[in-house]
Amino acid sequence: MCGIVGYIGTRVAQPLLLEGLKRLEYRGYDSAGMATVDAGRLSLTRAVGRVQNLEDRLGELGGFGGTVGLAHTRWATHGGVTEANAHPHRDGSGRIAVVHNGIIENYTVIRQYLEEKGHTFKSETDTEVLAVLIGELFDPEGGVDLESAVRAALREVTGAYAIAVICAAEPDTLVAARKGSPLMVGVGSGEYVVASDPAAIIAHTTQAFPVDDYHVVKLTRDGLRTSNLDNVEVTPKIMQLELDLEQIDLGQFQHYMLKEIYEQPRAIRLCCRGRIDAREGKVVLGGLAQYAKELVKSRRVILTAQGTALHSAMIGEYLLEDLAKIPAEVEYGSEFRYRNPIIEDGSVVIAISQSGETADTLAALMEAKERGALALGVINAVGSTIARETDAGVYLRVGPEIGVASTKAFTGQVAVLTMIALFMARRRFMAPDACARLMGELEQTPDKMERILEQDDAIRTLTEKYVERENWLFLGRGYNFPTALEGALKLKEISYIHAEGMPVVFIANKGPQYDKVMNNIEEVRSRGGHVIAVATEGDKDIGRVAEDVMWIPDTPDPLSPMLAVLPLQLMAYHAAVLRGHDVDKPRNLAKSVTVE
Ligand code: AGP
Repeated sequence: MCGIVGYIGTRVAQPLLLEGLKRLEYRGYDSAGMATVDAGRLSLTRAVGRVQNLEDRLGELGGFGGTVGLAHTRWATHGGVTEANAHPHRDGSGRIAVVHNGIIENYTVIRQYLEEKGHTFKSETDTEVLAVLIGELFDPEGGVDLESAVRAALREVTGAYAIAVICAAEPDTLVAARKGSPLMVGVGSGEYVVASDPAAIIAHTTQAFPVDDYHVVKLTRDGLRTSNLDNVEVTPKIMQLELDLEQIDLGQFQHYMLKEIYEQPRAIRLCCRGRIDAREGKVVLGGLAQYAKELVKSRRVILTAQGTALHSAMIGEYLLEDLAKIPAEVEYGSEFRYRNPIIEDGSVVIAISQSGETADTLAALMEAKERGALALGVINAVGSTIARETDAGVYLRVGPEIGVASTKAFTGQVAVLTMIALFMARRRFMAPDACARLMGELEQTPDKMERILEQDDAIRTLTEKYVERENWLFLGRGYNFPTALEGALKLKEISYIHAEGMPVVFIANKGPQYDKVMNNIEEVRSRGGHVIAVATEGDKDIGRVAEDVMWIPDTPDPLSPMLAVLPLQLMAYHAAVLRGHDVDKPRNLAKSVTVE
C-alpha cells in the first residue's frame, strides 16, 4: 500500500503535505514525492528512501510555494524502487500531476494505445499511464476540464485506485477519486485535506468523509462536488473522526511497535468496556444485535484473514468450537477467493482485519457474501472498506495501529472473538455460571498483561543472550499453537531471523496440553536445543527443563493466547532493536496489503 496526501486551501501546502506524509510513512517507505501548483506552474520532486530524503531534497530546491498540492509515500508494486518510478507522475505535457495507491490492471493495453498516439513514458509504472491518459483527455478549450478528464480516464481503467490529481492549467482545483483503495477527504474551513487515512487529516480537522468506490471529488477553495463516474452528483456523508493526535504520536517511546505493545492493557479494557457483564453472564455486542438470531442458529462459521489476523482467526476457530460448539474453519483470504467455496445455508463468514483494507480478505468476504453467507467483520479501522462491506460486525476499539508489526490488534482481535464465542455459547449450550466465570477472567486480562509488561527489562536481557542465533523455533499447542505462529511471525517480520530452527521458544502455560508440551521440551533438550519457555507463574517444574522463562499469570486456557503473545512481542521487538533494525519500517513489508 502507499500513502496519499493532498491539500487545497489558503495555507502553503508543502509543510502540511510533509507532515501528512510522515504520519502515513508506515503505509510505504520506498520513496516519496510531492507536487504543488504555484502561480500557474507545476513544481514536482521525488526522492528514493524515507520522507526525510524528500524533505532534504525540497530544502536543496528552496522549497515549493503554492496552496494546492499532493504528495505520496510509495510501496513499490509496478517497477523497482527508483526516483523515476516514485510518485507523483506527470502527463506528457508536464501540467498534470497524479498520485495513486492501487494497481491499474489494464495499464499495458492503455500504455500501448497511448504509445500509438505518440506518447512516451519515463517510468515503468501503471500510474504514469493513468497520468498520461488524463492529460490526453484534458481539453479545457473543448470543455473537458480536469474533473471531466479524470472521470473519462477512470471509465477506461480496471483495477484498484485511490488518486489525487492537480493541474497547472487549473490552479484552483484538486480532484480525487477512488475504487478499492482507501481515501478520505477532511473538510476544514476554506480548505480540504485528502488522505489515505485519517492520521494525515486529524491535525487539521475532525470533519471528514470516506470517498466511495467509483466516486470523483472535485475540491476548490469555495467548496466541493462529489459525483459518480456517470457524473451524477452524490452527497457525501461527513462524519466526526474519532481519533486524537495523542493516539498517533510516539510520546516517550522509541518505536510505535513498543508503544502499541504497552498500550495493550488499556486497549483490551476499551475493547471489552460495556460489552461484558460478568455478574449477569451476558455479552452485549451492539454491532451484532440485528443478526443475533442468525448468528446463534448458524451451522458453520468461516473465519477469513491474512497474516497476524489469520493467527487470531485460528484462535477464534478454537474458541467457537470449544465454547460455542459450532463448526468453524479458517481460510486464507488469498486462497478462498480463488476456490469454488461451498457456502451452505446457515453459513456465517467473519472477516478479520486490522486495517479493514486487505485486498485478499475483502475479496474472500465478497465471495462468501455473494454466495449467501452472513458477512460479519472484526475490524479495527472504523469506516474502512471491509467494515463497510460487512452486514454487521464488532470493532476492536484498540486505537490506531501504526507499527507495521501488528501487536495490539492481535490481542484485540482475540478479545473480540472470545466475546463473540461467549455471546453464541451463552445462547447455545454454555451454562450461565461457566460463562460468567470466563467473562470475569476476561475482565482480569488487562491487569495480567500489565504484570507481563513489568518483565520487559528481563525479556530484553534474555533476548540479548540469543540474539545472534540465526534460527529459532516456536512451539505451542492447542490454543497456543497459533500464538507460537504469531511469535515466529513477529520475530521474522522485524528481525529477519529465520524463526524455525533453534533456540526453541515453547509456550508451556498450565493448560490441558501442559504435560505434552513438557514432553516436547524434553525431546528438544535431549537433542541439545536451548529452551526458552513462556510459563504460568508458580510453575515449579519448568525451571528444570527451560534455560530461560518468561512468566504469564494464570488464566483459563481459552484466554491464554492474549497473555502468552506479549512476551513474544517484546522478545521480537528487542531482538530487532539489538540487531540495529528499524522496527517500525521493516524491509520488504507493508502494514497491510491492499493489492493482490
Ligand atoms: C502483521 O504483523 C502484518 N502487518 C501482516 O501480517 C498483517 O497482519 C496482514 O497483512 C493483515 O493485515 P490486516 O489485519 O490489516 O488485514
